[in-house]
Formats: sequence, structure tokens, C-alpha cells
Amino acid sequence: MAGSDGNAKGRSMTLHMVSSLDGFIAKKDNSVGWLESAGGVYEAGVSISEEEAAAFVRTIDCYVMGSRTYEHALELGWPYGDTPVVVVTGREWPQARKSVEFYSGDLRTLVDVELNARYRNIWLVGGAMLCQRFLELGLVDEIRLMIAPVLLGEGLRLFGGSVMEERWDLKSVVPYKNGFVELSYSASAG
Ligand SMILES: NC(=O)c1ccc[n+]([C@@H]2O[C@H](COP(=O)([O-])OP(=O)(O)OC[C@H]3O[C@@H](n4cnc5c(N)ncnc54)[C@H](OP(=O)(O)O)[C@@H]3O)[C@@H](O)[C@H]2O)c1
Repeated sequence: MAGSDGNAKGRSMTLHMVSSLDGFIAKKDNSVGWLESAGGVYEAGVSISEEEAAAFVRTIDCYVMGSRTYEHALELGWPYGDTPVVVVTGREWPQARKSVEFYSGDLRTLVDVELNARYRNIWLVGGAMLCQRFLELGLVDEIRLMIAPVLLGEGLRLFGGSVMEERWDLKSVVPYKNGFVELSYSASAG
């Protein structure tokens, strides 16, 4: 797996998504209640304070997302604060927020030229279509999957479509008190 060459320069592209146990990232009707109601109690898990979560989020320099994820984030209530966001789209959009810029064009140029020049810790946060394209192009250095303790049965598949067989190295497993588990992988050097 070839990560983007940004990795070698201390820059990294992290794909982050929340998935159901059966591999869906969204329900057909786009509702997100399953994310909020999925939690249980797993005593051996860790919990993090709001301050710790906020400090972690401050380490992220830029978010990248597809236009459908952007639309959904605007509807739900913008969770990215003033951190720069790049929305990949072929359409024209009104400038709803100062921190958002729109990009259409070659994705490798986006990463290697536009993003790597400005940011170090870049998070690709969906959706399925854009993440698949990034994976196909070898532009992802790290995958962080948050697995929610729920089966959905149907919906939008996390990695459905054209992703090829590829090995990734497990870096960490973090179980949370609410029953969610975070799995982190890095692009395999082998
Ligand atoms: N569970 C989670 O962690 C999670 C995370 C993120 C999103 N989601 C959910 O996933 C759903 C959206 O995912 P999605 O897969 O349908 O859509 P998406 O990846 O968010 O957006 C797809 C759009 O991105 C643009 N795009 C993608 N690849 C492109 C390329 N190579 N060049 C130019 N533009 C490109 C196109 O925009 P245009 O059509 O504008 O040209 C395309 O229609 C929503 O329901 C969202 O809530 C869930």
C-alpha cells in the first residue's frame, strides 16, 4: 500500500468513520438516531472527558469530505467549528461558512499539492464514495474506525464498491465505556 508521500514528510491523511457492526455508515433515510442510541455500558472500557475530546480535536488541522457528507453536516449542526474544511464536489456551492472551501479536480493533486503544503494532520471524514476513491488512489495513511454496537441490516456500505484487497497493520484497539470500539490501522509497509 502506498500512502501519500505526505506520510514521509510527517503529514498524514487519516480516514475516520463510524460504522455499524455489519459495516454500514448511514441508514437509507440518512437518520443518525442509531449513533446516539447505540451505546450500552461496558465497564472495562475507557471514557474521555469533554476537555480531552476537545484537546484531541484541536490537533486536527483540516477535514476533507464529500459534498453529501457536507450537506448532511450542515443539516445536523456543524460539528467542525472553525477548523478548515475542504469539500470535494463538482458543483457550485454558496459560501455558507468562512472555514469551508470547495475543491473539484484531481484528488492526488488535492492531497499532494493543496493539502500537504498547508496541513499536517488531515482527516478524511466521509462519506463512503469519497473514502473509497481515496483508498483506491492510495492516499490514506491511517484508518480509524469507530464500531458502534448495533446491527443496521441495510444502508450505505462503508467500503462497498471498488476497494481492492489490501493489508493494513493494526495499531490500536480502544474499547469505550459506551460499547463503541475504535480500531486504528496504518498502511502496511509490506
Ligand atoms: N458514519 C459515519 O462516520 C459517516 C461519515 C460521513 C458521512 N456519513 C454519511 O454518509 C452519507 C454520505 O456519503 P456518500 O458516500 O453518499 O457521499 P460523500 O462521499 O459524502 O459525497 C459524495 C459526493 O462527493 C463528491 N465527490 C466524490 N468523489 C469525487 C471525486 N473523485 N471528484 C469530485 N467530486 C467527488 C461528489 O459531489 P458532487 O455530486 O457535488 O459533484 C459526490 O456526489 C451521508 O448519509 C452521511 O451522513 C457517515
